[in-house]
Amino acid sequence: MHIAIENIAHYEGKEVTIKGWLYNKRSSGKVHFLLIRDGTGIIQSVVSRDEIDDKIFEIADTITQESSLIITGLVRKDTRAAGGHELVIKTLQVIQMTQDYPITPKEHSIEFLLPLRHLWLRSKKQVAIMRIRHEIIKACRDFFDDRGFINADTPILTPASVEGTTTLFPVDYYGDTVYLTQSGQLYNEATAAALAKVYCFGPTFRAEKSKTRRHLTEFWMLEPEVAYLELDGIIDLAEDMTVYIIEQVLKRKKEELKILERDITKLEGIKKPFPRITYKKAVEIVRKKNRAFKHGDDFGAPHETIISESFDKPVFVHHYPAHIKAFYMKRDPKDDSLSLSVDMIGPEGYGELIGGGQREDDYDTLLKRIKEHNLAEEPYKWYLDLRKFGTFPHGGFGLGLERTIAWICKISHVRETISFPRTLGRIYP
Ligand code: 4AD
Ligand code: MG
Repeated sequence: MHIAIENIAHYEGKEVTIKGWLYNKRSSGKVHFLLIRDGTGIIQSVVSRDEIDDKIFEIADTITQESSLIITGLVRKDTRAAGGHELVIKTLQVIQMTQDYPITPKEHSIEFLLPLRHLWLRSKKQVAIMRIRHEIIKACRDFFDDRGFINADTPILTPASVEGTTTLFPVDYYGDTVYLTQSGQLYNEATAAALAKVYCFGPTFRAEKSKTRRHLTEFWMLEPEVAYLELDGIIDLAEDMTVYIIEQVLKRKKEELKILERDITKLEGIKKPFPRITYKKAVEIVRKKNRAFKHGDDFGAPHETIISESFDKPVFVHHYPAHIKAFYMKRDPKDDSLSLSVDMIGPEGYGELIGGGQREDDYDTLLKRIKEHNLAEEPYKWYLDLRKFGTFPHGGFGLGLERTIAWICKISHVRETISFPRTLGRIYP
């Protein structure tokens, strides 16, 4: 019976078939230990000269890394083997004997691995990251689905910018210039008026001009938007969602976190409440370590790192100065220089994971902001309509998926959190 390696424990004492690839091999003359992977796990299998056909022993002797194969064998408990079981091989069929697999089982530089990403994905660590990525996506969706949100995805090709005009990717659209979306938010605001609680979840694009550990040019964003929800409620929602994601990963992806050598006590501490501080307070924290930072400036990666290191949980920073935030941010009715905005800065130096806030809901004010930001009015006409026909207080946020994965897996660079990363200067493979 063909089974997945992840289910092997249920088949102790039984004969099973595994279809996969050779991950690695150890030999001691009379016995070969083949490490076989099938995408769900890795199992040690044994071929010993005394117990097997010479022909099979010979194949096991010569089989190479990443050869594709089908084996049958007996599942045996073995506390020394990783996973607690091993397979005693009875038959071994090679589908293809691989020659010169480029990624040998030793340390390689990132420059060597990146162009080989299509193969590098097969390694144990990369598989663990992708499996955790899947779990995080599922947790995000489950969280909103279970709370009555409607998934209403937004277009990738758009006529207007959301997050400033400097990071747009232009696309020729039958002779007109359109852009790859930077965020689904503006469309989310329309669907929120139709469906009250919505989210979109898809790829977003930014022509980032700098190379950092936190920036991709194509990344995935989860964006909820809620009618009649104001700043405090938006922060509550982001907090509940973050706690839920961590809980699910801890519950369901222990093995993978172990492979990544993630210190899970840090994740176990991610419980409510998260600290909530104003931008003003965050500036005080930054200035204790960096006197050069001026009140009113936007935080860059080093400043976010200082803020994040002051807390062992994610921290919400709210009420940023309006002039450093996007045109759609609603202003604080008590102080017009401040916006009803919030960012969630992740712990352990991971920087901004979430950005969001309450949206400007007054027609005249929004039109004024569009002009102040030197944006063309025409592409936003429909967006202004939302303020004309039953305007309503509302808000939401965007969670950067890859940064969240990097934090949970404790990986230093976001390029390992997506199967085929797109960064400044790299679009291969
Ligand atoms: O803070 P941002 O720009 O917010 C928005 O786009 C809002 N319109 C979202 C909303 O309110 N619906 O981006 C949201 C998050 C950031 O906090 C960050 O985690 C991630 O998206 N992000 C990136 N991740 C990887 N590479 C990049 N270049 C990113 N830019 C933003
Ligand atoms: Mg932001």
